[in-house]
Amino acid sequence: MATVPESVAPVSHLALVGLMGAGKTAVGRVLADRLRRQHVDLDLAVTQLAGRSIGVIFHEGGESTFRDLEAQSLVLQLAVGDPIVLSTGGGVLGRRENRAILAADSTVVWLRARLETLADRVGDGVGRPLLEGRNALGVLRDLAEDRHPAYERAADLVVDTDGLTVVEVVDAVLEALMDVGLIRPEALAGSTVDGAGGRS
Ligand code: S3P
Repeated sequence: MATVPESVAPVSHLALVGLMGAGKTAVGRVLADRLRRQHVDLDLAVTQLAGRSIGVIFHEGGESTFRDLEAQSLVLQLAVGDPIVLSTGGGVLGRRENRAILAADSTVVWLRARLETLADRVGDGVGRPLLEGRNALGVLRDLAEDRHPAYERAADLVVDTDGLTVVEVVDAVLEALMDVGLIRPEALAGSTVDGAGGRS
């Protein structure tokens, strides 16, 4: 699989946004590899900062504690010098300061999918406090209504992921970056879709 040389890779951070089940973590990992960048998963950064799992953070301090930690982690992670690939959590755009820092420092890519696709991917919602014990499709429908306008406003690029494997989504993101001139086309010459990835 071809990798984008550093000299032609986009210079800003690349942030993946979208609802739970959009594939932000899995796609971010492979994308970072292709771009030879560090991958940061914001949920993981939150758990490292707090020393507790997302579930425990929600259980002990409620969603507002989680959002405070998420906002702090976002600042810390984007402060690094080299451009990273950042997989955000689905609710990251809820806070104005998060929207501002992402707009200032990142190319934002919205991984979009139909609600049925998202529900299918999140399964029983284990590890996602907003879904636990609830009907995933119903929760996702409400969240979509609430958040889609923010994703749309924040996104520099939108990539539809229904029916695609992780690797196919990565290729679609890279292609979209090329289309807007953030990666030069020759950088991807010889790039192959090896189809080895699981579903995003
Ligand atoms: C959340 C999404 C989760 C995680 C937390 C809250 C949300 O991340 O940040 O459970 O508000 O949509 P993923 O989108 O990676 O599942």
